[in-house]
Amino acid sequence: MIRILVNDGIHADGKLLLEEAEYEVITDKIAQEDLIKELPKFDAIIVRSATKVRKDLIDACPNLKLIARGGVGMDNIDVEYARSKGIIVINTPASSSRGVAELAVAHMFTLARFLHLSNRVMPTTGDTDFKNLKSSFSKGIQLKGKTLGVIGFGRIGQELSTIAIGLGMRVMPVDVYIPEAEINIRPNGFDNLKMGITLKSQNMTEVLKRADFLSVHIPFSGGKAVIGAEEIALMKRGSYIINTARGGAVDEDALLDALNSGHIAGAGLDVFVGEPSPRKDLLAHPNVSFSPHTGAETKEAQVSIGQELADQIIAFFG
Ligand code: 3PG
Repeated sequence: MIRILVNDGIHADGKLLLEEAEYEVITDKIAQEDLIKELPKFDAIIVRSATKVRKDLIDACPNLKLIARGGVGMDNIDVEYARSKGIIVINTPASSSRGVAELAVAHMFTLARFLHLSNRVMPTTGDTDFKNLKSSFSKGIQLKGKTLGVIGFGRIGQELSTIAIGLGMRVMPVDVYIPEAEINIRPNGFDNLKMGITLKSQNMTEVLKRADFLSVHIPFSGGKAVIGAEEIALMKRGSYIINTARGGAVDEDALLDALNSGHIAGAGLDVFVGEPSPRKDLLAHPNVSFSPHTGAETKEAQVSIGQELADQIIAFFG
């Protein structure tokens, strides 16, 4: 019987599909340090971003046939090494795009209307200081008419562009590998109404200079930040940065400097260097809207990830 270790969880529907295919599915989490002893007893492992599947673990598991990542980013897996050993490595790139894109927009709305700040202070002073709070948070902005730079124009960047166009934003994507993409606007409930807009990838410098909001959607597994001090310096004073991609894709030192100087008015951060223990000075910054890496954590995305995983695993093992 095929034995599958699910080490970072899977939606119940996905687990059921695997069990119906008559695989043994173990969902009890095995600590990272114990995997080297326990994983050799399995044919496949399913992870999210928490469990690391590095070279030493792969070497310890000569019978491992498949590594599955429920989600998109594979920076926690030594993918090329695993493949060189004949192990199949899969992920579920389509399932969570909408969830991540909607979270990026949620951060933009939050920053635009100071919700991150009013949610922090209203529980304590909302009853005594209402008028002052109203005045403090009264200079919000609207997203309509603002320019959104989309760094990375893959599935998530395209999904975000669809939403942003609907909001009346001017969208400027940047992607070295994707020169253009058709964005299809299909209002729900109007089956005959469909509009296709071809967006072309633009020059990075131009986008940095023009963006009111910059949202990052590239794969990142370390190395030089995609948005560092140089890139931030090109951005307009008072603009905003959203990072729902990976911690470090936006340089945290450079971002903090820019937030402190007011060059960047606010940031929406879902991902952090050093997860699960982000740096405290960043967490303490008043001009940041935070979420704890929950971009893919929608009910819809998790159901879809479970299904996409099960489909691929069943296709592989038969
Ligand atoms: C991804 O790469 O799919 C997202 O960052 C979500 O990661 P998670 O599965 O650990 O929540």
